[in-house]
Amino acid sequence: MTESDSGFDAGGFDEAELTASLVPGEGDAEAGLRPKSLDDFIGQPRVREQLQLVLAGAKQRGASPDHILLSGPPGLGKTSLAMIIAAELGTSLRLTSGPALERAGDLAAMLSNLVEGDVLFIDEIHRIARPAEEMLYLAMEDFRVDVVVGKGPGATSIPLEVAPFTLVGATTRSGALTGPLRDRFGFTAHMDFYEPAELQRILLRSARILGVELGAEAGAEIAGRSRGTPRIANRLLRRVRDYAEVRADGVVSREVARAALAVYDVDELGLDRLDRAVLGALVRSFGGGPVGVSTLAVAVGEEAGTVEEVCEPFLVRAGMVARTPRGRVATAAAWEHLGMVAPPDAVLGGIEVRAAEPPPGLFDRS
Ligand SMILES: Nc1ncnc2c1ncn2[C@@H]1O[C@H](COP(=O)(O)OP(=O)(O)OP(=O)(O)O)[C@@H](O)[C@H]1O
Ligand SMILES: [Mg+2]
Repeated sequence: MTESDSGFDAGGFDEAELTASLVPGEGDAEAGLRPKSLDDFIGQPRVREQLQLVLAGAKQRGASPDHILLSGPPGLGKTSLAMIIAAELGTSLRLTSGPALERAGDLAAMLSNLVEGDVLFIDEIHRIARPAEEMLYLAMEDFRVDVVVGKGPGATSIPLEVAPFTLVGATTRSGALTGPLRDRFGFTAHMDFYEPAELQRILLRSARILGVELGAEAGAEIAGRSRGTPRIANRLLRRVRDYAEVRADGVVSREVARAALAVYDVDELGLDRLDRAVLGALVRSFGGGPVGVSTLAVAVGEEAGTVEEVCEPFLVRAGMVARTPRGRVATAAAWEHLGMVAPPDAVLGGIEVRAAEPPPGLFDRS
């Protein structure tokens, strides 16, 4: 599992870790910080409770639980939860990802190797190829697949039994999932950003595992800049540790944390270089918007998917970017954060206000 685990993390590296300062070898550090059981998993109380019920119910009946979909922004613990699900069920986890399942045959090979009760984890399941997706429908519902052999009129389909398994799918874009696929999951866990207090607990746990002396106040300081995301919290902790060991006495105090985060360009809200680039382009180049996400991505030299899945969710949540039908709009908070004064209509959310015409007659006093 360790082998496939680190392989998997490397696969996710491109998109999710683009702004990261990860060096080879730290993938192991991240794996070591993964919570191993539901009790170990901090935060997400609703998801944890729901999942606990799903798993306990299945265990009582001695059956495999329903297929589970984990949806939410990168770094919130979807992969960790998938591993926890297998661990709690006492079964083994088979790992693959949507982009790896290009042909139906890729999936058929994966499915035919499953043992009863196995958990099949498909990461980035929204990127699965169409033929594989159609095969997956049948496998999820009836635990069988039809393998087509040959081509043209002579082609025959051979039915193949699949051992009862639980599919765990993870996606950063549940909206991109087709309806039929989404419908076949018995339970969807919606992961949300973490509260600072939860991140602080995660940081204290990680510090204990890494053997870093981290004060509660320093933990709060890092937590506040982690954009609601455990992966970022852990990453910042490792950077702060470097600073503490090289430039201080190794102890992470609040001052040390602040100084280190300044060096790494992480501001008070936790925005990093890419976030600020996106905000800067939106405000400076496009006058606050509205502008399409692909244009914005080109302006910062980044892929649209990265801007949309990695930066935007947090910027929207922080109230700095609004999504409107005509594109992305900077709110007054965004202008302020960049030390600029918002134009008057931005204060009210820009285009949304302008687009909404008052109903005729409302302001008509005659
Ligand atoms: N609830 C949690 N408690 C403690 N640590 C956590 C928690 N959630 C996530 N982490 C930490 O954050 C890291 C990232 O989590 P994980 O890889 O599971 O995220 P993910 O949702 O799968 O991200 P991606 O969408 O990029 O694949 C893990 O290495 C783990 O250490
Ligand atoms: Mg993951």
